[in-house]
This record gives sequence, C-alpha cells and structure tokens, in this order.
Amino acid sequence: MADRSETGAQGAPSASKLILAIETSCDETAAAIVNGEGQIIADVVASQIDFHARFGGVVPEIASRKHIEAIAGVALECLYQARAVLEAPDLKWSDLAAVSVTYAPGLVGALVVGVAFAKGLAWSCDLPLVGVNHLEGHIYANKLASPDIQPPMVVSLVSGGHTMLVEVKDWGNYTTLGSTLDDAVGEAFDKVAKALGLGYPGGPLISRLAEEGDPNAIKFPRALLHSGDYDFSLSGLKTAVLTYLQKEEQAGREWDTPNIAASFQQAVIEVQVAKARAALEQTGAKEFCLGGGVAANPALRAAYEDLCAEMGIRLTMPPLKACTDNASMIALVGLARYDQGRFFDYTCDVAAHTSLDDPY
Ligand code: KG4
Ligand code: ZN
Repeated sequence: MADRSETGAQGAPSASKLILAIETSCDETAAAIVNGEGQIIADVVASQIDFHARFGGVVPEIASRKHIEAIAGVALECLYQARAVLEAPDLKWSDLAAVSVTYAPGLVGALVVGVAFAKGLAWSCDLPLVGVNHLEGHIYANKLASPDIQPPMVVSLVSGGHTMLVEVKDWGNYTTLGSTLDDAVGEAFDKVAKALGLGYPGGPLISRLAEEGDPNAIKFPRALLHSGDYDFSLSGLKTAVLTYLQKEEQAGREWDTPNIAASFQQAVIEVQVAKARAALEQTGAKEFCLGGGVAANPALRAAYEDLCAEMGIRLTMPPLKACTDNASMIALVGLARYDQGRFFDYTCDVAAHTSLDDPY
C-alpha cells in the first residue's frame, strides 16, 4: 500500500487528475498512480532480481521476457490499490487523466514492453500519453521525501547504470556537471561483490558487511579525486580490489571480507563526497539531493549528512524504497509534464541513451 505520509499531504486523497505511471527500464516492473496534488495513491514494484542473480547481473533478454509476464498484473494491482485507497470500487482505466511511461534511457527491449503497454492503454481509453526520462524520475524521487524542494540544486545520481553530478537550475533544466568515464558506482559494487563471492545485487551485501569492517584497513585508490572536474572512474578501483584479492590468495591469507568491503566503500564515498562538495561550492546551490540505487547506501547517506551539515546545505534523500527503480518517481514527472501539456505521440519510440540535458 502506498505510504501517503511520504507526500506530506493530509486527509483523504482526492481522485482528481489521476495519472498512471509505468516503469520497465531495467529489472523492475513497476506501476504507480499519482493524483493532481502529487499524492502517491498506489505504488507496485515487481522485482526480477531473483531471475538475474544466478548470472551476477541483469540479462537483457530475461528482463524483457519477465516484463511481458508481469506488466498487466502489476498495472492491475496498481488499479486495485487505487480503488481501495480512494474508496472508489468502480474506478477504471478510462477515469485516468493520462498514462505516463519511462521511454529512456535503459535496456531497449525492457523499455519497449512498458511503452507498448502504456500506448495500448492510452489509445484504448483515449488518454494522453506522457513520456518520461528515467533519470529525471530519480531526481523527482526526492519530492517523496521533501515535497517542497526547489531548484537550484545539485543532484548526485548513482545507480547500477549511472554515476552523475547534475546541476538542476529549474525543473526540466538540467546540466550534467560530470559522469563516470567507465563503470557506474553500483556496477562497481556489484562486480566487487561478485569477486568476493557475495551474490547479486552487490550493493546491499557490501554495505551490510562494511558495517563490521574498518574503512581504513586497506588503502584503495581514489580515482580522479584531484582531477578538478566532476568526472568519475570506478574501473581502476574495481581492478585494485581484484588484484588485492589475488595477492592475498597467493600469500595464503584468508580474505578479511568486512575490511575489504568497508575499505572499498570508503574509497567510493570519499570521491563522491569531494566532488559533491566542489559542485555545491561552484554552483552556490543550497539544496543537495540523491537518486539511484546506491543512494540507499547508509554510509554514503551519513557522509552526505555530515557534508551538508558542515556546509549549511539542505539535504534531501529519497525514502529507501524510492532510491531503486520505481514508478512513483515516474508518476511525479508525469504529473509535472501533464500540467505543462507536454504529451508524446502514440507513435513515439524508446531510446537506450538520452542526455538529461536535452529537453524532450
Ligand atoms: O537505480 P537502481 O535500482 O537500478 C539501476 O541501476 O538503474 O540501482 C541498482 C544498483 C545496483 O548496482 C545495486 O548494487 C546498487 O544500486 N545498490 C547499492 C545499495 N543498494 C543498491 N549500492 C550500494 N549500497 C547499497 N546499499
Ligand atoms: Zn534507475
């Protein structure tokens, strides 16, 4: 059931301007419904993680197939939730104001499933279609924690596919300050976890182990820490961890997994925080937000709490379940674009790559 308190709104939610959102860009099949006041009325996420875990990462072909299997049931469950929350047992798809859907970026075959479903539903009920950029969704997820946040702000987007620092001059007006030159942060967590034999996804497993380890036990490299720009590089750190593991093995020593996890995590966090500090100083923004699965990392969140307290910056972090992929965040962008009258044609296509900086 959707937690309406997260939206900050009081009283029974209204059934005005209901917008359905569909999200299938990676390995979560998700649907949500938002009302005209920005309250999340329903929120359903079906994760495919168990199907990908044995391969140590998301397999695009499996993702597409699982989305096809799940999408109708997830959307229907979302409608049922909305009926219960709104006490409207007769609520039907044609009562919606619009259908919004993630159209980019992501796995093409996965995106296609959500967009085809959204198109079909919108067309059959004669509803407008709203296309949403997934990364913009991660930025809007912060509204679930602080409905009143306002640009200018700096956002760190850290997931399995992205590592970016973004300047938000206004809603819809984004400048990417820097991004990863190779692996994404979440990808590095996943690869290091795999090398340690921990399983997939690696982020939560490493962060849990790191709590028992010493972050200063092993000095792993802090790539691009002093590069003077906002770019990141994670592949060298990953290789450094792998080399360390091999050396320990050759020396006949057992891995101290908590210390390795904590030291790896610390190397990631130090660079993330240093670049965020520089971006806040350069832009003069007084708001800092996070987005993406890695934003659920407790040590990273604590480090940003310290940074923002020290700098006098307001920090907003999405609720934990809204850090990873979900449709509530897509619904919030859908509502904003609906209010601006920015609709997609039923003939629209998906895109694997898009720049957040390009208006759409
Ligand atoms: O945003 P997301 O659900 O999917 C995309 O990649 O778009 O992010 C998933 C990523 C995975 O790489 C996962 O290992 C990482 O987020 N992650 C974490 C934590 N929880 C999830 N990384 C570090 N610490 C965590 N607690
Ligand atoms: Zn994502």
